[in-house]
Amino acid sequence: MQSLSKASSNQPGLPSLALPEAFAMTYIVNEKCIKCKYMDCVEVCPVDCFYEGENMLVIHPDECIDCGVCEPECPVDAIKPDTEPGLETWLEVNAKFASIWPNITEKRDPPEDAKAWEDVDGKFAKHFSEKPGQGD
Ligand code: SF4
Ligand code: F3S
Repeated sequence: MQSLSKASSNQPGLPSLALPEAFAMTYIVNEKCIKCKYMDCVEVCPVDCFYEGENMLVIHPDECIDCGVCEPECPVDAIKPDTEPGLETWLEVNAKFASIWPNITEKRDPPEDAKAWEDVDGKFAKHFSEKPGQGD
């Protein structure tokens, strides 16, 4: 699936399909994922561009092909296109930690208390963890 990624379009010998930065789009994971981490999203991504932290996932903006398949899979609506206003912070968080955390492509059991965290506001300030998850 790697051949579908944005990064691969810049390989020597192939015409560059990279769009100017202003037109590059991606989907992002926001703070609703924190401590819910249901992982339904990773099963559907055609380019395997989810990365796992201790208590949330992020999307690698340079690998996401903007297909949108993952968005309706998240039970807590944590996945959004970065075209929605006010998501700049989340784009930065996704980009930074996707380059640090391990890749995840297979769903595991979510946290036992995931349900209790679904409607909690302000999870980033209190509960975001920079620690990596286990990946696969
Ligand atoms: Fe993967 Fe979602 Fe991006 Fe599609 S929109 S490539 S499913 S992260
Ligand atoms: Fe998080 Fe939703 Fe995926 S809770 S792990 S973005 S399915």
